[in-house]
Amino acid sequence: MSTPGTTPTPRHRRWWVVALVVVLLAAVVVVAGVLEHRAWEDTVARYEADVAAQAAEAQGSRAAAEAAYTAGHDDLTAAIDAGVPVLAASEDQVADDDVRRSLVQALDHAETLRDTPVTYPVHTSVVAAVSRPNPLRSQTLPAVEAEVVEASDPSPDDLDASAAAVTDATEAVVEARRQWAYDALGPAVTDARDALTDLTGESVDAATEQELVEAVTAAGTILDAGPDAVDAEAAVELRDTLLDTTEALWTDRIDRVVTARRAAAQADGVDCTVDRCVALTFDDGPVADTRRLLRVLERRKAPATFFLVGANVERNPEIARAVVDAGHLVANHSWNHPQLTTLDDAEVREELRSTTDAIVDATGFRPYLVRPPYGDVDDRVRGISLRSGLDTVLWSLDSDDWRTRDAEQVHDDVMARVEDGSNVLLHDIHPTTVDAVGKLVRDLRKEGFTLVTVDLLVEPEQS
Ligand code: NI
Repeated sequence: MSTPGTTPTPRHRRWWVVALVVVLLAAVVVVAGVLEHRAWEDTVARYEADVAAQAAEAQGSRAAAEAAYTAGHDDLTAAIDAGVPVLAASEDQVADDDVRRSLVQALDHAETLRDTPVTYPVHTSVVAAVSRPNPLRSQTLPAVEAEVVEASDPSPDDLDASAAAVTDATEAVVEARRQWAYDALGPAVTDARDALTDLTGESVDAATEQELVEAVTAAGTILDAGPDAVDAEAAVELRDTLLDTTEALWTDRIDRVVTARRAAAQADGVDCTVDRCVALTFDDGPVADTRRLLRVLERRKAPATFFLVGANVERNPEIARAVVDAGHLVANHSWNHPQLTTLDDAEVREELRSTTDAIVDATGFRPYLVRPPYGDVDDRVRGISLRSGLDTVLWSLDSDDWRTRDAEQVHDDVMARVEDGSNVLLHDIHPTTVDAVGKLVRDLRKEGFTLVTVDLLVEPEQS
């Protein structure tokens, strides 16, 4: 028993301290547990959100990639379908080949891309596993994997870029062809107008002439409107009409002249369908020595054909005139004797036109035959010639007189190879050739040949 007034014992005081410590410890444990639980709940929430987002991405990615590829593929196909016919229609109708070459390359690339089988590469998306770091309540949420499609291969960007390249190149070709069609119309109109002028007073086919006049008028309207307003298709068609009709007008004229000359020859008793005909043709004059040749031919009453060089006609117009007055046929052999296939259209035209003009001025006779220098000719040059009123004639027997330069040799070479219908190539610019002609005419006749101008041969267009 304790007595009143005494202090509490030390044992009594320690009990309170222990109790307080226990209470504090319990409080700490409770608080820590609450905090750890909340942290884990946050982790779980993040994990579940990541897994949900991953699932949504994986689910939509293939559909999105397929839709993007299909749209790009459709655009590319449309661009190709627009470009291919433009490329086909523009062949030979664009001045700069590089413009069409760019389209060819763009189409090649686009068609390869269009035909490439599509694949959809995937990558694996991973949501990492999480573990609860609580030894009392150990818990683990597993790692989650899903396959995600990123984009197609070929990619939509590649498809779009290729389609854009094709579209740009197509537009460039359309534009270049428009310009070409406009530029090509000018020379065709000039040829047509010249034909109408040159044939004024001749009995041309009225329907053809009318068609040409109308085409010239229509072309004038297009030319006045300028290149930007040109409908390339219509302009090309009109150009073709101009070219064809101009050729038709000249062909009609050439046929009429030849028919009349053959009829006249027949009236004189010369008919190469019956007779064994030979044509002596003299190129590159007229020169001073041409007069000596005319005297030789005159003595033997032998007709010949002279393919005149325009520059020489300009120098010797009176000699050209003497050739025509003597009854021979004169024809066009260009102005400067170039290789015509190496010249551009305008230059070929100028070579032929200026020579024809010089011959008309000097002689009053409009030539209707051309012999291209060196026999150098192609379809383009033949076309330009015809639209300048000139039918192309080559030769069948080359005397090689320019090489041998020996009268006896020239005579013997021709006599050795001559046959019915021979169109003999000679040059009156070589005195040795002129020396050979008298004996040549005599011996040809001795062998039964009839000498004629080249247009009377049954097939004058031999080569
Ligand atoms: Ni020549």
